[in-house]
Amino acid sequence: MKATLIDRLFAATYDRFIMSNLTPQTVLSIRHWTDTLFSFTCTRDPSFRFDNGQFTLVGLEVNNKPLVRAYSMASANYEENLEFLSIKVQDGPLTSRLQHLKIGDSVYISKKSTGTLVTHHLLPGSTLWLLSTGTGLAPFMSIIKDPEIYSHYERIVLTHTCRFIDELAYKEYITQSLPQNEHIGELIRDQLIYYPTVTREPFRNRGRITDLIQDGKLFEDTDLPPFSVERDRLMLCGSPHMLKDTRALLKAMGFNEGTHSQPGHYVVERAFVD
Ligand code: A2P
Repeated sequence: MKATLIDRLFAATYDRFIMSNLTPQTVLSIRHWTDTLFSFTCTRDPSFRFDNGQFTLVGLEVNNKPLVRAYSMASANYEENLEFLSIKVQDGPLTSRLQHLKIGDSVYISKKSTGTLVTHHLLPGSTLWLLSTGTGLAPFMSIIKDPEIYSHYERIVLTHTCRFIDELAYKEYITQSLPQNEHIGELIRDQLIYYPTVTREPFRNRGRITDLIQDGKLFEDTDLPPFSVERDRLMLCGSPHMLKDTRALLKAMGFNEGTHSQPGHYVVERAFVD
């Protein structure tokens, strides 16, 4: 009985703490890419700051309690609004509700941001590879819109692997809109290579990124030399399996993971909601 009361008090204090770190924002647009994937934009608190590539907490109030999960910003830090990419899990506590968002609804966004997909965790290099699967694309959408990244690297390669073509979110935006953008279009045209691949239906680029690295197809198709510790830097974001296998591949090639205290050759973040 006593423990239950303490548990409840603790839970209530924890909920209040979480709520005090959230701000309500208004949903501005929603796009359903497939039955299992959607994105939305919402207003941004003027005091909310982040580095491109970072994540925050996003959620709803359910039964008078905050229900939040980590989401990477797909919008760049200079944009007026925030954008998030999410899967829809039918029985998922948050995404089963979040997928029904409508324009004008309230969504809670944390006041804080954090994350490891930042260039100061990486040693200097000349090619930056952004390897993603599924919603792991989101932080890289923010990074490829960052003009500064193009001054750190000669070339940025963004790979996105999904099961099906429809799941290649933002494909047209990356290939058609961004190159025409009045501020960063030239950087995108000159320095960004976008390499989408799918694994479960025919497409011009087919297969898991790990296989495409190992059999050299990725380098053949992008016209770039195979990974070298001296030249190449990587950011990984995707499913736990993809991260585990890619890490093992990189380790075998002599690449070290970078951290805040010790920059390395690559950094890793998992795609959060599952
Ligand atoms: P596959 O279709 O061969 O499983 P998921 O939807 O399961 O998160 O997967 C997203 C994409 O990541 C799929 O194209 C999937 O390929 C791929 N993938 C899954 N596991 C791995 C892995 N261990 N290494 C590389 N890619 C993977």
